[in-house]
Amino acid sequence: MKRILVTGGTGFIGSHTVVELQNQGFDVVIVDNLSNSKETVVDSIEKITGVKPAFEKVDCTDFAALENVFRKYDGIEAIIHFAASKAVGESVQKPLMYYRNNIVSLINLLELMPKYGVRGFVFSSSCTVYGEPDELPVTENAPIKPAESPYGNTKQINEEIIRDTVKSGAPVNAVLLRYFNPIGAHPTALIGELPNGVPQNLIPYLTQTAIGIRKELSVFGDDYNTPDGSCIRDYIYVVDLAKAHVCAINRILNNEQKEKVEAFNIGTGRGVSVLELINAFEKATGVKVPHRIVGRRAGDIEKIWADPQLANNELGWKADTDLEETLRTAWKWQLKLREDGVM
Ligand code: UFG
Repeated sequence: MKRILVTGGTGFIGSHTVVELQNQGFDVVIVDNLSNSKETVVDSIEKITGVKPAFEKVDCTDFAALENVFRKYDGIEAIIHFAASKAVGESVQKPLMYYRNNIVSLINLLELMPKYGVRGFVFSSSCTVYGEPDELPVTENAPIKPAESPYGNTKQINEEIIRDTVKSGAPVNAVLLRYFNPIGAHPTALIGELPNGVPQNLIPYLTQTAIGIRKELSVFGDDYNTPDGSCIRDYIYVVDLAKAHVCAINRILNNEQKEKVEAFNIGTGRGVSVLELINAFEKATGVKVPHRIVGRRAGDIEKIWADPQLANNELGWKADTDLEETLRTAWKWQLKLREDGVM
């Protein structure tokens, strides 16, 4: 059984990826400092897959603690590195925390890999590296634009650190997955996104509004250069996204890479505006979402969606869940949180 280390494996995308890895027969070790997730996620994963993944509460910035994980679990073949701070606004307030967390963690992992014979590395990158793209849909060859936030900058710097490390001759094979906007939850509603405090992202704010936790959803701007004036994104179902990681791991371990570092856009190829998304949610669930147009949010990209062809062709992966079905899983998850008394 191939052993994979998943950092941030109790988080939103991490937990869904652990499920897909286990479904494909991988042996998973999760490392997470639980800064933005709960250990009970490990039990939820077990409920879904029938297998309890190994779990170590470790902060990836702690080199000694991280090395102990490599000592304890022999024969790790690859790492999927999710563990990172990810709130754009907070990163503007606390840049050093973001640079420390997101950069030191990566350096520690890359230093430990050769010593413990770990070759594969899959990195959680973001379409944020493209900034406001000049051409749509955006391909992997689009220029990397100056980052809008320290968070975005850590994604760019991490990609560069990985490239430089491989260029130096380190025995590392890497895949950089540039995610578009991950949404939804596992169809069982046993795992999903659990934002801390007031959600900053559209879908958790929308579902919290639909259930009555929030009074109304603010639509940040309707005067953009888009058909209905609201911003456009490429919303991808988190389970589809999780599956892309399994494809990336297989590609590395089966020596199918064309280069030692490859980057792939992980999106649907479909651009959806904020107003279209609200309509799709209402149609999919029959639940109304009170909303109001307000001013633009600083730093927002006007429109971006992926050209996912490279991932389709090379990874043999495709996002195939439709938007309404995806939105129903987000709603089911919000209802489950209510049922469980979480919120
Ligand atoms: N939006 C609203 N109201 C809200 C929240 C969001 O109208 O209450 C709008 C935003 O203006 C944007 C869209 O919904 O047009 C999506 O916003 P999100 O905050 O959900 O997502 P972003 O595209 O801004 O950011 C996401 C991730 C970042 C990542 C970025 C690019 O949250 O971590 O994609 O990868 F950097």
